[in-house]
Amino acid sequence: MSEPIGTRTDHLELVETQSVCRFSCRFNCGSLVSRVPKGEGETFGSVLQRRLSRRSVLKVGLVAGASAALGSALRLGDTPAAHASPVTAPAAAPAAQASVLNFTAIKPDTSDEVKVAEGYRSQVLLSWGDPLFTDVGAFDVNDQTADAQARRFGFNTDFVAYLPLPLGSKTASEGLIWTNHEYTDGLMMFPDYDNKNPSKQQVDIELAAHGASIVFARRNGGGNGGGEWTYDAGSTYNRRITGTTPIRISGPAAGDEWLKTSADTAGLQVAGTLNNCGGGWTPWGTILTAEENFNQYFANADLLPAEDPRKKVHARYGLPTAASERLWEIHHDRFDISKEPNEPFRFGWVVEVDPYEPTSTPVKRTALGRFKHEAATTVVAPSGKVVVYTGDDERFDYAYKFVTDGVYNPNDRAANMGLLDSGTLYVAKFNDDGSGEWIPLVFGQGPLTTANGWRSQADVLIRARQAGDAVGAAKMDRPEDIEASPVTGKVYMALTNNTQRGTEGRAAVDRANPRANNAFGHIIEWTEAGGDHAALSFRWDIFMLCGRPDDETAYFAGFPKDQVSPIGSPDNLAFDTRGNLWIATDGQPANVKVNDAIHGVPVEGAERGHLKQLLSAVPGAEVASLAFNADDTALFASIQHPGEGGKLGAPTSVWPTGTYARPSLVVVTNLRGGAVGA
Ligand code: FEO
Ligand code: CA
Ligand code: CA
Ligand code: CA
Repeated sequence: MSEPIGTRTDHLELVETQSVCRFSCRFNCGSLVSRVPKGEGETFGSVLQRRLSRRSVLKVGLVAGASAALGSALRLGDTPAAHASPVTAPAAAPAAQASVLNFTAIKPDTSDEVKVAEGYRSQVLLSWGDPLFTDVGAFDVNDQTADAQARRFGFNTDFVAYLPLPLGSKTASEGLIWTNHEYTDGLMMFPDYDNKNPSKQQVDIELAAHGASIVFARRNGGGNGGGEWTYDAGSTYNRRITGTTPIRISGPAAGDEWLKTSADTAGLQVAGTLNNCGGGWTPWGTILTAEENFNQYFANADLLPAEDPRKKVHARYGLPTAASERLWEIHHDRFDISKEPNEPFRFGWVVEVDPYEPTSTPVKRTALGRFKHEAATTVVAPSGKVVVYTGDDERFDYAYKFVTDGVYNPNDRAANMGLLDSGTLYVAKFNDDGSGEWIPLVFGQGPLTTANGWRSQADVLIRARQAGDAVGAAKMDRPEDIEASPVTGKVYMALTNNTQRGTEGRAAVDRANPRANNAFGHIIEWTEAGGDHAALSFRWDIFMLCGRPDDETAYFAGFPKDQVSPIGSPDNLAFDTRGNLWIATDGQPANVKVNDAIHGVPVEGAERGHLKQLLSAVPGAEVASLAFNADDTALFASIQHPGEGGKLGAPTSVWPTGTYARPSLVVVTNLRGGAVGA
């Protein structure tokens, strides 16, 4: 693993302030960035500098100048969109324009327990290893098999969604809980794990602990939000999807030469889904689960001949040149690029799953492009076309949206099942004057021509990152989640951090990424032209520059900084039905390491920017995802990789068992009854 180690240096610099993912973030932060083509694509730096040089407000550097400007000329707020996602925003949601979050913020914390604001409680609903079927018993960390793991809750909970039962209802007290299982960590899973020589049984257990879980859960008694939540191991809805579940490939890249392998000579079916990070859901009640850091599973890209065109593509996607850190290639040839050079092309997609049909086949929707998808947030445009926002979580990579050709049919569920196979993928360009453009990534258009080496739309989608490079997309500070307000239609994107911006050979600061040493990230807010999510232009603004309130570069939408909670590395986002934004973090700021958190913040009215911390997680963990039930009386949150950095026998956290750490899904409820935050 000689190649990636040297490139991880700056992540190590963040150790004190950011939770360290042994596999996911460490690889994500380090391995690929060194391969981002330097100087390719347009950045905002030069135009920004020209514009800023005309401004007299700049007294204390770019960030302060940007904040001042954002407070005046570039404020959003024009033409609120009338359309919100039918799923994220029930039609009956009150259109409150100014709301208050009615709780007292908690302080940053370092203890090994999940803490919530006074008047709230959290309970653990599901932990790694919990049986999802009645034919497997209680979990025993010393007695694991792959077959049993495939029937238990997986590892490292990530994207969570609440799907009411019955389908299409607004039921708040029972439904299906979807949870991604992003990645595994052998040191935290097995008492005898040797990371230089994992056994085949351990690797197969880890494959079975990937993917996702679908679990039926309900609130028991207590009404008005106060009841205890439990899950039902006997429900016929329960399902595990793993790293080996058969998954169909659809859309323009299905059957492409680069998707064919010795196990699948047609290029139409993949074994499993890996590194499922964020996600989303569709108006027709399917889940979109996003494959993120798929590069970490593959090895030996350098063994491809220099003239092989796939070698350059694998490099752009950060595939290890020698052995992988996981070493799965020892036991499974498909993870060895020298043996299966096309297998990596079969990962990095958005996967659609019907959680209401437990025997349905998941589908990789290639029309949405191949990159390190963080999320897949769906909104219906006024035309009925379906828009999916999705970011590529890599330093200096891009934000995208996909717009379907067809329109959503609320009266015919089956008719919507192929909608995501046909449409246009766009990549974002943020201009320094507060305008933005969506640039189509379409074969034959702009630079994406045969003369420039592009062979088909499948090729454009498989090499979406290079397509973005070619059209001059905006190089961002690691796009994580993107969400649209169900009240205003404004879109919010978390840029989690980037400490390399402005360093030698890297893109300079610009208006959309205004800090050179952006250790704590920021949140951008935009309004699509005419309030139409399918529009090709937008107006954007900075909503928040994260950090400690005493950091002069921090900015909280203009709210007095002495009244807000510190926040670092915003990752996942969720809106409640009142239009308040909730933020899960992956790297809280402090002089000493503190636990990650959930914060809430109004985005409209007098309280806009009044950020408050609701929850504190445990050492080593990030809060990877969060989602509300249908009436906001339950907030589900993924506590991912508790104790990471230690190992099973020498943990930095023993949450929640008291003896060893288990990644878990918690439920936060309001002890006064009613909605969280109300
Ligand atoms: Fe898996 Fe971008 O976090
Ligand atoms: Ca994430
Ligand atoms: Ca993250
Ligand atoms: Ca989200």
